[in-house]
Amino acid sequence: MNRDELFSHVQKFSEDQYSNEHRLNARIQLYQYCEHKKDWHEWVFEHLGLTEGLKIAEIGCGTGVLWEKNMSKLPSKSEIVLTDASRGMVETAKGSINDPLNRFHYEVVDAEKMPWPDHSFEVVIANHLLYHFQDHRKIFSEINRVLVPNGTAYASTVSANNYRELLQLILEFDGRLSFFNEAVKNFNLENGQDILGKYFKVTAQYVLQNDIVIQSAAPLILYVASYFSEDQLHILTDRFNELCDYLEGTLERSGALRITNQNVLFQYQRVSTG
Ligand SMILES: C[S@@+](CC[C@H](N)C(=O)[O-])C[C@H]1O[C@@H](n2cnc3c(N)ncnc32)[C@H](O)[C@@H]1O
Repeated sequence: MNRDELFSHVQKFSEDQYSNEHRLNARIQLYQYCEHKKDWHEWVFEHLGLTEGLKIAEIGCGTGVLWEKNMSKLPSKSEIVLTDASRGMVETAKGSINDPLNRFHYEVVDAEKMPWPDHSFEVVIANHLLYHFQDHRKIFSEINRVLVPNGTAYASTVSANNYRELLQLILEFDGRLSFFNEAVKNFNLENGQDILGKYFKVTAQYVLQNDIVIQSAAPLILYVASYFSEDQLHILTDRFNELCDYLEGTLERSGALRITNQNVLFQYQRVSTG
């Protein structure tokens, strides 16, 4: 991607994080530079161990990429409800999933107010969603309510240390361009088990350490800009060529940048109330 293309791509980021898929896709594209060629969504899917006949809900499904990438491995008798609070995301998911077996349904759903009756699902999945909530009581009570008594839930999230090397580089360039996502503090690899453990029985914790090792600046700029506010996007626009020069120079001198990238998938179950 040349500088002009990169510049026009960055301009597409609207103020709202998830009203369209541009920002989310800018983050996902960085995964292709992961050290191990293990795809995150394939890795997650393998750990779900889905069997025939399950009724599954994904809350905060985003672009539906988990299913798009694993369609061929999905048991033929599954029933899956893909939901997100953003209509734009649900529409993108609907458009990207091609399932001749009609196993998918789509709904716009706020995960704190699920529209389904009690005990509707054997599996509830919340990938990279729980850090959006400072207080998890409502969402956990909803997950608990819609799960069948012996159902299983999954939640993935990031390490609070992820991207710290890139953050430091950007802060050295311009302190106004911090892209640290404060929401990560709400639920991460380091505190997730304790938070879940207050409401559920955590039955497994799977960690994928897969650092990003990258030699080109454009994907990094796209990634950091995906977190920027409107004000930060203006600063980026003003200093765009300087930032490109700075990152390209740094990468040239060091050969490559290694960025911490560790993600976790928690598996948990309802606590029996006797
Ligand atoms: C980081 S994205 C993760 C998307 C997807 N699960 C993935 O792993 O690629 C978080 C998603 O959660 C959605 N979201 C945020 N708050 C929500 C809420 N209260 N209820 C449902 N979805 C929500 C956003 O619209 C966004 O699509």
